[in-house]
Amino acid sequence: MGESFGQPMKLELPAIPVQELIKSTTNLIPQRYIFHDTINASSPPCMDTPVIDLQLLLDNSSSSESLDELGKLRSVLCSWGCFQLINHGIPSFEIDKLRAIAKEFFALPHEEKQKYSRTVDWFEGYGSDTVTEGEPFNWNDRLHLKTHPLHHRNLKFWPQFPPNFREILDEYAVGMKKLLENLLKAIAKSLDVDENGFLSQFGEDGITFTRFNFYPPCSSPDKVFGLKPHSDVTMITILVQDKDVEGLQVLKDDQWYKVPIVPDALFINVGDQLEIMSNGIIKSVVHKVVIDKERERISVAVASIPSPDKEIGPLTHLIDREGAQLYKKITNYIALFLQHIARGERAINALKM
Ligand code: OGA
Ligand code: NI
Repeated sequence: MGESFGQPMKLELPAIPVQELIKSTTNLIPQRYIFHDTINASSPPCMDTPVIDLQLLLDNSSSSESLDELGKLRSVLCSWGCFQLINHGIPSFEIDKLRAIAKEFFALPHEEKQKYSRTVDWFEGYGSDTVTEGEPFNWNDRLHLKTHPLHHRNLKFWPQFPPNFREILDEYAVGMKKLLENLLKAIAKSLDVDENGFLSQFGEDGITFTRFNFYPPCSSPDKVFGLKPHSDVTMITILVQDKDVEGLQVLKDDQWYKVPIVPDALFINVGDQLEIMSNGIIKSVVHKVVIDKERERISVAVASIPSPDKEIGPLTHLIDREGAQLYKKITNYIALFLQHIARGERAINALKM
């Protein structure tokens, strides 16, 4: 842990989005985007995708299929920390509408998108992620919005074009809230703990964010990251991948794996806060995004986070079962996460007992 702990660090934003940058510099990648220790060179193996069926998980009949599916979920959470979810209840036409508004928004002229620009001191809005002074920027433009609770929405960041943007996102957010509840219940069930164990830590005032990611193509994809390796600050993240362009990779036992595109499936990954709540039984997966040489890629991630003033920690049942509490309780994990990520470290390690 560095001596700079607790000291404010200077954060920076690039002057223009990557989408604008590539209009002017076709082949020359600006230094600030180059990761000198990048190892994108070889193509990693494809993840042998665990596919989980939500309908089977929610089946209360204790049928053998349902019990098998819960067993499969548990095993995948403890090994990969991520999976593809089918029969999730979000119709594919709704997912297509979401992809469509994302595509239309990023295709708007720069001046129009700028109306929703973020600033260096608040993450919401259109632009890039901040980095610590001097660190490389991601090859990523994004629109980041708070979607729940409703009274926390900052509509000034919600695009008015395309004209159906707000309506479609609102509709999707409703579906995501329900899905999140179902998933947290199913995950608890798979670990044999009270069905509401994780859900009650998310709480009535739990927050969801929606993050629209745009990854422009790059002539030297081996030099940049769409998103550098990270784990999510969330309980879980629900991702709609691009329909055609791959890019997401996950880390397991020091090996990277490509995440394939499974039509109509949602990609679910565990974030740090659920790893903490599970007392380390399930894994918050480290992942990254690599860039395509010719094609742009769009994804939409929905993040779930307990309210920052709520204390979270390992479930008592799971502490008893493991025989020890492996993570400390914490209030405002997001603040700890941001301090650590700025130094390229994982906050979750600071909570290990
Ligand atoms: C994220 C993320 C993956 C992707 O937004 O945190 O990891 O495929 N996204 O865009
Ligand atoms: Ni992520």
